[in-house]
Amino acid sequence: MPKNIIVSNRLPVQAINANDSWSFTPTSGGLATGMKSVHQDGDSLWVGWPGVSSDVLDEKSKTQISKDLEKYQYRPVFLDENELDNFYFGFSNKCLWPLFHYFIEYHYFDIEQWNHYIQVNQKFANAVLEVIEDGDIVWVHDYQLLLCPQMIKDTNPEVTIGFFLHIPFPSFEIFRIFPERERLLLGLLGSDLIGFHTYDYERHFLSSVKRILNFEVNYNIILHHGREIVVNTFPMGIDFKKFESAALENLRNNFSETSELKKQINAHKSENEGKLILSIDRLDYTKGVVNRLLAFERFLDTYPEYHDRIRLVMLAVPSRSKVSQYKQLKRQTDEVVGRINGKFASVNWTPVWYYYRSMEFENLIDLYVSSDVAMITPLRDGMNLVAKEYLATRVDNDGVLILSELAGSSKELPQALLVNPFDIGQLVQSIKTALEMSVKEQKERNIISRKRIQRYDIEKWSSNFMKALSDSANKESASEVKVVNAQVSNMIAEAYNSANKRLLLLDYDGTLVGFHENPNKAIPSESLLNLLTDLSNQKNTDLVIISGRPHEFLEQHFAQLNLTLVAEHGLFLKKPNAEWEEKKGVSNEWKEHLLPVLDTFTDNTPGTFIEHKKNSLVWHYRKTDPELGTARSVELKTVLTSLLPNELTLLDGNKVLELVPANINKGVVALDLYNLKPYDFILAAGDDVTDENMFTNLPSDTFKVKIGKKKTAAEFYTRNYTNFLSLLSKLL
Ligand code: UDP
Ligand code: G6P
Repeated sequence: MPKNIIVSNRLPVQAINANDSWSFTPTSGGLATGMKSVHQDGDSLWVGWPGVSSDVLDEKSKTQISKDLEKYQYRPVFLDENELDNFYFGFSNKCLWPLFHYFIEYHYFDIEQWNHYIQVNQKFANAVLEVIEDGDIVWVHDYQLLLCPQMIKDTNPEVTIGFFLHIPFPSFEIFRIFPERERLLLGLLGSDLIGFHTYDYERHFLSSVKRILNFEVNYNIILHHGREIVVNTFPMGIDFKKFESAALENLRNNFSETSELKKQINAHKSENEGKLILSIDRLDYTKGVVNRLLAFERFLDTYPEYHDRIRLVMLAVPSRSKVSQYKQLKRQTDEVVGRINGKFASVNWTPVWYYYRSMEFENLIDLYVSSDVAMITPLRDGMNLVAKEYLATRVDNDGVLILSELAGSSKELPQALLVNPFDIGQLVQSIKTALEMSVKEQKERNIISRKRIQRYDIEKWSSNFMKALSDSANKESASEVKVVNAQVSNMIAEAYNSANKRLLLLDYDGTLVGFHENPNKAIPSESLLNLLTDLSNQKNTDLVIISGRPHEFLEQHFAQLNLTLVAEHGLFLKKPNAEWEEKKGVSNEWKEHLLPVLDTFTDNTPGTFIEHKKNSLVWHYRKTDPELGTARSVELKTVLTSLLPNELTLLDGNKVLELVPANINKGVVALDLYNLKPYDFILAAGDDVTDENMFTNLPSDTFKVKIGKKKTAAEFYTRNYTNFLSLLSKLL
């Protein structure tokens, strides 16, 4: 039975050595806690690092760990000290993590670490490829494995791959700083579906794809090598039932059964009707721990009437403590906590209870259910599940959540007290508001928030993602346009070989060569010229290059070959060994009326330019900002359409708008050429909308091939022009 393969850097458990034997403890972090529920419920295999350096493992230990993990359907990827230093602590957490969280000053690029990142991503990809079987779906997670999707796809192009990013995707202006930005994006684009927590991250990602890779993006779909990659927002939920029922259980327990922690909490609460403010995070500079402490300190300074009556319970879970910024944060946190406690503590009261460790699930629940206020104020956070967990445990709908507007979860929880975590003054006021909020208002707010997180829980999140992933896979196979695979190319080659008279009509840009920023650099390679020469020299074969290019360009590169050349969409035609013929009766008067319109748009849109052809005008917008270019092209289209005389057509091509005489298009000239001889094999190929006229005009027994998977009247498509060239070479 097909399975889901979950791939993440870390497994949800960490191997621990005690008395010469290995046991496992749960790991912290949103990815692990969230995906654990998904894994338990489904038929899946989880591939990841077991949290220990393989330098301390002999073969026997590795075998034991692998065997033990197999029971939970976990499969370890062992990483040695060097890999961990360079890939995990180094590249993932010194370069990507700070960059993606907008901490540019912490971001550090090191080529050695980048090379390790590539190697370790390949190691994870290989681990997946070892276990993958037909029909399996792969789901890759997070910033440590951005290159993995393409590495898997390279070896196994048929496999369906989903990717989910658990951290923010930064704005293009931040992402562009990264030296290997193209490689990262291309690595990710091996996926069929890419998911983000919020729409902002999604649009930042799409904006980078458009601006850095210059790929075509239609709404949320990226076209890449003829594949459609869907990008969407899936805000991660929590296992609501688990937290709610644990809270109910916790509240039912009588005093004798409560934990030590709960006893201390209860003692505080019964003295002076004390209130608790809760803070839980991994100790990470993105979490805003220091700002939170500073706000608490200022609150105590400003409102002395609250002394003895409130307490901040701060759980800081140790994280990545080998990285210098984390070490520094630990020192700073200790210092500020010490200062606050030193400044305000009395015999009976310590304002901050500070725990630097992780806690068992039951103790987390103790904290959640006992806290009147949760203060979750990260400076930047992909989602933040703690905020949702706190609300899920508020079974009576009371309690106040102070939440940073820079956490992904703020998008779903607008009823929380939303704050700017950099504004200490606002944080101070939010503590006051929270402590004084009536229970009625607390409930009004929380009822709405809890409904949301109950309905959109982790199960819903993962099933939505999986459904979108399988939809993307089915769409591919149900598509009416068929990919040119080995079977199709054999069939075309057979028809070609058994035909008496063959006609090949081939577009140039995007069909025989790739696109180039400067069209004059998209010139035919030696091997392309050889291929065309060989084909055109075959008996009973007429080969036509049918292009929108000026005839001078085709003359320069192809005049010496035995080909028919069609330039400017049919305005010029040259038979083999003959002179160029120009179509008669085409007027140019319209140019003087419409050129000023194009000039205005060019002046207002930096990077665009006008190409003057003998009988047409082309407005190019490939080199401008992609969003601006698309917006301006829509405007220009509207203006031109309203001015267009009958004798003109507006062609909406690949990043170009072209004004051409109406009686000139590739369809008309293709049909004229077809009618010249009794052809019994016709192949027409092109990538652009201007080639669609050929596909619609030519008879139905023509082999019509679109380059790139786009809307088309063709029956077949190839993913890119190199695949099309392979098809052509099969005809020899
Ligand atoms: N958590 C934990 N042990 C602890 C404290 C927290 O397992 O001692 C869990 C917490 O319940 C939550 C996760 O760690 O599910 C933290 O996820 P979040 O999205 O808030 O932040 P991340 O650590 O992923 O940045
Ligand atoms: C965040 C990241 C996860 C990571 C977790 C814990 O949630 O998105 O990918 O696993 O932090 O960090 P660690 O470095 O300990 O794996």
